[in-house]
Amino acid sequence: MSITWEGSDAQLKLLILLIGSFGIVEINSEILETIAQWPLLDYALPYDREFLNKFRPENVVPTGFEITEHRIFIATPRLRAGVPATLSVIPRDLPLGSSPQLEAYPSWDWHRAGKGDLNCSGLISVYRIRIDKCNRLWVLDSGINTSIDDFQVACQPKLLVFDLQTDQLIRQVIFPREVLRPDTLLTNLVIDDTAARTCDDVFVYMTDTVGPGLVVFDGTADRSWRFVHASMLPDPNYSTYRIGSDTFELFDGIVGLTFSSKENLVYFQPLATDRIFSVSSLVLKAGPLPFGQQLPVTVVGRKSSQGLALAVNQRDNSLIFSPFTETAVASWNPKINKQRVLAFSPEKLQFVAELMWFERDNGNIWILSSRFQKYYNQNIDPRDINPRILRIRSKSSLLVPPSIYHYDNPNFPLNIYNNTLTHSFLK
Ligand SMILES: *[C@@H]1O[C@H](CO)[C@@H](O)[C@H](O)[C@H]1NC(C)=O
Ligand SMILES: *[C@@H]1O[C@H](CO)[C@@H](O)[C@H](O)[C@H]1NC(C)=O
Ligand SMILES: *[C@@H]1O[C@H](CO)[C@@H](O)[C@H](O)[C@H]1NC(C)=O
Ligand SMILES: *[C@@H]1O[C@H](CO)[C@@H](O)[C@H](O)[C@H]1NC(C)=O
Repeated sequence: MSITWEGSDAQLKLLILLIGSFGIVEINSEILETIAQWPLLDYALPYDREFLNKFRPENVVPTGFEITEHRIFIATPRLRAGVPATLSVIPRDLPLGSSPQLEAYPSWDWHRAGKGDLNCSGLISVYRIRIDKCNRLWVLDSGINTSIDDFQVACQPKLLVFDLQTDQLIRQVIFPREVLRPDTLLTNLVIDDTAARTCDDVFVYMTDTVGPGLVVFDGTADRSWRFVHASMLPDPNYSTYRIGSDTFELFDGIVGLTFSSKENLVYFQPLATDRIFSVSSLVLKAGPLPFGQQLPVTVVGRKSSQGLALAVNQRDNSLIFSPFTETAVASWNPKINKQRVLAFSPEKLQFVAELMWFERDNGNIWILSSRFQKYYNQNIDPRDINPRILRIRSKSSLLVPPSIYHYDNPNFPLNIYNNTLTHSFLK
């Protein structure tokens, strides 16, 4: 048994049903651990009144994170006014469930936008970040201010690389005009280093959520290009989301993104869809397609509800995802069609904005849940715990083989995943 749950009656019933139908059920082979949690994010602000005057905690929503041995980095885009720093850091060596103040990364100097001082050499609005094998942090800055309210194109988007040894900027990528669109919003990235011989010899795949499209950066040639495909557009039939008693509407395209290095596959999903798609990274790396030629995108499967974050367990190539409405984290192996629920919590798993599977953390899964829907609807309750960084920790990750669950409970989806569409191609 691998579900972590809150102790209400309905969920207890779910648990009993599961035990009833499966006999041998291991309680707590996985634990949903709260690493850090906050009512609202708080900052260790510098001694500068302007930062304090502009700070609007109810508008600061985390969307991405990364971890090293001793630090956790957090990205908070400028969705609305009042974000002091768009990229921050907290120590990792804190008691579970702490609410540490965020420190600007790499320094407050980079975040003058937080006091209304616009300078495009600083950081404007970061959604997600990635650490590569050379201990460098890749920061994707969308350049868009107040993206929810008025979508102000403050600066060109850019990709910055910081050396985590020295916290110094070591590389900066400015995109050529032809890979951008007037409404480009770069929100997510993965690094493909499968053929790398040096630290810079990587490909970076990036999602343009509003554009929508997929941007590829070739680190050796210092070149980038763009793909677009119908699968990257939002599906109007899935642009209303339900999480607990909240509903909200958002017409967002491709945003979930992950990479299976063993299979050379990039998986992606728009926010407004019930599907997950894949495309070969070899095709993406080969350069732009001749005009009129279609990107060969595959429908991998359908989910019980929409979601954002995607990750791949690089050991067994299973996909990890979080259907919003079910407030769960599940894994699914497309090859053998095995699915399992890894964690379930109506309280803690509201709007999972990021999921990461870390080889460098013994294959544990880290989660950022944000309750974005409440910020978006502007009804966030500062007396609740809202953003959380969680970890699904296997007590014996290598000993317990993955099992398959079927759900008899009407409150739980019959098919979190259903891959009847596998290998069909979008026309
Ligand atoms: C972003 O927009 C807010 C609200 O309009 C404004 O106060 C702030 O100065 C803007 N920041 C930048 C970097 O343009
Ligand atoms: C922007 O910041 C850079 C680096 O801090 C600085 O050299 C430059 O003068 C600034 N530009 C403006 C217009 O303030
Ligand atoms: C949306 O739903 C309608 C009605 O159920 C259906 O006809 C249409 O094909 C759907 N559109 C998409 C893009 O799935
Ligand atoms: C998967 O979805 C299809 C189409 O929606 C449905 O007909 C089928 O019964 C589902 N498969 C399973 C195993 O539930």
